[in-house]
Amino acid sequence: MKIPQDMLASAKAVLPHAYAPYSHYQVAACVKSESGQLFVGCNVENASYSMTLCAESGAISALFAAGFKRVTETLILVSSKKLCAPCGACRQRLLECANPAMIIHLCNTDGAHASHTINELIPIAFGPQHLEQA
Ligand code: THU
Repeated sequence: MKIPQDMLASAKAVLPHAYAPYSHYQVAACVKSESGQLFVGCNVENASYSMTLCAESGAISALFAAGFKRVTETLILVSSKKLCAPCGACRQRLLECANPAMIIHLCNTDGAHASHTINELIPIAFGPQHLEQA
C-alpha cells in the first residue's frame, strides 16, 4: 500500500523531538481527522517509567483538542530497522475513534513500511459497542 507522504513528512518532523532518554527508542505518530487534518505526537518518557506517554496518545489528544472525534488514518514512524507495532494500549486507544477499516501505516526512516487495518491489529476487540446495551 502507498504511504501518504504528507503524513510521513509530518511524523518525520517531530521524530527528533521524542523524549526517550531511557529506552533510546524514539517514536512519532501522525493521525488524520475526519476532515483530513493531520495531528502529530511523539513519545515522552519519564523517570517514573510507567508514566511514559506513547506517541499515538499525543497525536490522538491533539486531534481531540482541535475539536475532531474520528481518526481516519494513522502512521507510526521509527528510525530502527524493525517497524514499531503499536502497543496494546494504543491499539485500544485508536480503536475508540476509528472504524474497523482504518489503516495504520508502520514506517521507518529508511523507507521500509507495512500497512494494517485496526481490525487486523486488534481483532475481537472490546469497544464502545459492548456498552451500548449496558
Ligand atoms: N512507544 C510508543 O510511543 N508507541 C508504541 O506504540 C510503542 C512504544 C514508546 C514508549 C516508550 O517511550 C518507548 O516506545 C519504548 O517502549
